Amino acid sequence: MDVYGLLGNPVGHSLSPSMHEAAYRELGMDARYVIFEPEAESLRAALQGASALGIKGLNVTIPFKQEVLTMVELDELADRIGAVNTIDLTGDRPTGHNTDAVGARRALTDHAVDVDGARAVVVGAGGAARAIAFVLADAGATIHIANRTKERAEELATAVPKSTGHGLGDLPELLENADVLINATSVGMEEDESPVPAGALNRHLTVMDIVYRPLETRLLRDAEEAGAATIDGAWMLLYQGVAALERWTGQDAPVEAMNETLRAELA
Ligand code: ATR
Repeated sequence: MDVYGLLGNPVGHSLSPSMHEAAYRELGMDARYVIFEPEAESLRAALQGASALGIKGLNVTIPFKQEVLTMVELDELADRIGAVNTIDLTGDRPTGHNTDAVGARRALTDHAVDVDGARAVVVGAGGAARAIAFVLADAGATIHIANRTKERAEELATAVPKSTGHGLGDLPELLENADVLINATSVGMEEDESPVPAGALNRHLTVMDIVYRPLETRLLRDAEEAGAATIDGAWMLLYQGVAALERWTGQDAPVEAMNETLRAELA
């Protein structure tokens, strides 16, 4: 039996085990996906132990996405983003990747968004915004980063090619000429609120949210009302898992089965 898992602490209720195990069933794999919650000081030992035990791959979540940077060989994108959410243990040495970023890009391209040349507005300047901004820049988009704390947006914009930093007050003007808007903050999860004024949305936009609980965020409801196309938070979650599974197994992921399981859990 092959073992995969998620490293975090605390993990809380994760959708990854059911999503990945749905894929294993579909692929006829004898495999399990397990939650591991090591203490921070045991993280290195946990990784070495995982390798020694023949565990094939690990996802990494809060608070370890940065901590593991020094413990694995980084691929170029994960190195530039400065965060790892997927570790591949199938080779000689553990390698670290960022499938959050890849997942965000695939969620967009899968919804017919042509990222190359797109004018994108990313709301937020934390870890999620950083991953998304880098991958969109790589794919040829021009990026405006808008954040509550303007200085954080400006700082991130110095690291991301073809990007500028803004406060949230600039959103109405930025969205007049944008193709894509992505909420990369947690706003909408706890309260029924949106980080973007409804009046700034328009029908030329594709609006993506990384919040998946609830799926129907205030932002996405406002976007629909404005006639914009919408991409809910389950898509990025799905495609980061798809990218991790494909890296670990070398097989095409059964995207439909994973999506169905995910949406059943979120319903
Ligand atoms: P993560 O790594 O998950 O992206 P983070 O680093 O804590 O999390 O970043 C959270 C993001 O959500 C930040 O951009 C934060 O804005 P600040 O930099 O100004 O803190 C943003 N955010 C959180 N709560 C917000 C709110 N109520 N309104 C607007 N932005 C908010």
